[in-house]
Amino acid sequence: MVTKFGQVVTGLTPEQLPEYIPNNAPVIAIVDEQVQEWFTRHFPTIPFITIQAAETVKTLDTIEKLTLDLLSEEADRTFFLLGVGGGIVCDITGFLASTYMRGVRFGFVPTTLLAQVDAALGGKNGVNVSGYKNITGTFTQPEFVLCTTDVLSTLPSRVFNAGMSEVIKAALIADVTLFEFIEQHAREIINKKEPALSEIIHRAAQIKLDIVARDEKEKGERRILNLGHTLGHAIECNVKNIMHGEAVSIGLAYAAKFSQRQGWLTTADVLRITALLKRFRLPVDSIIPVEELHETMMKDKKKSGVLLHFIALTAIGKAVEVDIDIANFKFLILNS
Ligand SMILES: NC(=O)c1ccc[n+]([C@@H]2O[C@H](COP(=O)([O-])OP(=O)(O)OC[C@H]3O[C@@H](n4cnc5c(N)ncnc54)[C@H](O)[C@@H]3O)[C@@H](O)[C@H]2O)c1
Repeated sequence: MVTKFGQVVTGLTPEQLPEYIPNNAPVIAIVDEQVQEWFTRHFPTIPFITIQAAETVKTLDTIEKLTLDLLSEEADRTFFLLGVGGGIVCDITGFLASTYMRGVRFGFVPTTLLAQVDAALGGKNGVNVSGYKNITGTFTQPEFVLCTTDVLSTLPSRVFNAGMSEVIKAALIADVTLFEFIEQHAREIINKKEPALSEIIHRAAQIKLDIVARDEKEKGERRILNLGHTLGHAIECNVKNIMHGEAVSIGLAYAAKFSQRQGWLTTADVLRITALLKRFRLPVDSIIPVEELHETMMKDKKKSGVLLHFIALTAIGKAVEVDIDIANFKFLILNS
């Protein structure tokens, strides 16, 4: 079932996608090389540039290269950029579109589960600089985000499961009934079966968009979307080859244990959360020493003064921000 809220449309068939592409502007697509064949099958007339999706490619060098590609295509301010790929392509395309000639129109066709429920939504974009993740970027909303589960059929299970970490995060933040739905339909979701798959995408995306609508620039409430991310970022910086969603999963498990120590979650709640993450083969234990994580935390961009905005849970389905002195972080969060 096609559902539209804000700029996001879910439940589309690939045949329906071209209807949404502007016909009043020249369009150029930035396409993840892994979905090039799928893209050309469904958008045979749109010119495109392919990129390889890797964190090492999410850099200012790539922005420079793509800028030169656009110039050689004689793209001016009237052009529309279409990002077709996972979170990496969406982040790169969003940043490129926000800065190329001081800003051109853009939209996304996200092709990973994580991008459909998270990275393509909310208007944040950016690239990494010298190992600092997403340190340079803008808040600029895409004109549309078009989600079809058809493109997820080629997604390797590890990448799909990494996306489930963000779906579970959304449920933990704001919707216990979504959490229960995932528990009850885990098998169908793992097998990418409808209607369960579209249902979780739609509901997780809506949770994020509702929060972003109330706090677009992350001055307050939007920070709850960082549940699992403070630690997740530190893990991503320290561990090669870990996926964003996998690092977030470890962060979610630690946030749950922290919340239990505050007396907000029960032991049973924590077990339920870790069991659901494990159901999707997601890691829940840190694989690197606590000292290394602590070092990285000290330079994490979410630290403000000496206080760290840490997101915890007061219940499954209810997130809360706790300001923690960075010096106590190791003791409070990591030692569990
Ligand atoms: N801007 C935001 O708000 C936001 C939010 C969350 C994450 N992110 C960013 O998103 C990135 C992670 O995104 P991701 O998990 O989608 O990773 P990704 O973009 O690296 O994609 C994962 C892998 O899947 C491949 N792929 C993509 N679509 C495919 C398909 N349909 N079939 C087969 N293979 C496919 C890619 O080539 C890549 O190898 C990180 O850089 C993270 O920082 C941004």
